[in-house]
Amino acid sequence: MRMLLRYRDGDRINHWCVAMLFFCAGLSGLAFFHPSLFFLSNLFGGGPWTRILHPFFGVAMFLGFVGLFFRFWRRNLWKGRDTEWTRRAPALLMGDEDAMPAVGKNNAGQKGVFWAMALLLVLLLVTGVMFWQPWFANDFPILLRRLAVVIHAASAAILILVAIVHIYAGIWVKGSVHAMTRGYVSEAWARKHHLLWYREMTGDKQ
Ligand code: HEM
Ligand code: HEM
Repeated sequence: MRMLLRYRDGDRINHWCVAMLFFCAGLSGLAFFHPSLFFLSNLFGGGPWTRILHPFFGVAMFLGFVGLFFRFWRRNLWKGRDTEWTRRAPALLMGDEDAMPAVGKNNAGQKGVFWAMALLLVLLLVTGVMFWQPWFANDFPILLRRLAVVIHAASAAILILVAIVHIYAGIWVKGSVHAMTRGYVSEAWARKHHLLWYREMTGDKQ
């Protein structure tokens, strides 16, 4: 079976660092979201340690994502055909992939996930810093800090939902996880899910 390189070593190391930091930042943040989730702080050494560590996990995740951003932004630029793909997306959800237009390296769903992650992480960083005690919070008026808490919690909730969609899609499309663990996909996988990218990589016109 002939294989095509989809993610380089650096891409994959970068990705899995961000994924691990996402679980650290997400679970430590959720511990403060509602008392019923406070038990999650046991994972990080109790309440005070969770409170100390959470913003550092967040900043580390943000910096890790900056790496992913510069690796992948180009392939996620929106093209005319992506609008058509989005319009027909319900057919894909019903399992009819043949009804979809040909796709390049990434489909419109992956592009949407990418830009949503980037935007939400900027919001989380900016708002998180605004109520980060004892370092920066005192530099911001109380009204702004209150607003920041609401936007931070809402952005975190949306990011967690987007990540669930991302992980589900990665597992659902058989062969994708292999792309992120070993770097390679089969030519058959590329042809089925990313026909235009397959043609670009192999020179095959069919
Ligand atoms: C990017 C850098 C980040 C910084 C500087 C930051 C900072 C903070 C701070 C200072 C708190 C307040 C803790 C408290 O005293 O109650 C907090 C809460 C929280 N953070 Fe972050 N955070 C960041 C990223 C993230 C990320 C990536 C997530 C989710 C994936 C997240 C999810 C949450 C949640 C759910 C809360 C609880 C909000 C609430 O009060 O309801 N944060 N964050
Ligand atoms: C257990 C958690 C995760 C799993 C199993 C997972 C799985 C995957 C897989 C299979 C791909 C390759 C998809 C393909 O090439 O068709 C991928 C790409 C990617 N993932 Fe994840 N992922 C996880 C967590 C995350 C998190 C938390 C983030 C960031 C918030 C993230 C950001 C990305 C990005 C930016 C790409 C590259 C998309 C591109 O090519 O532009 N992933 N992931």
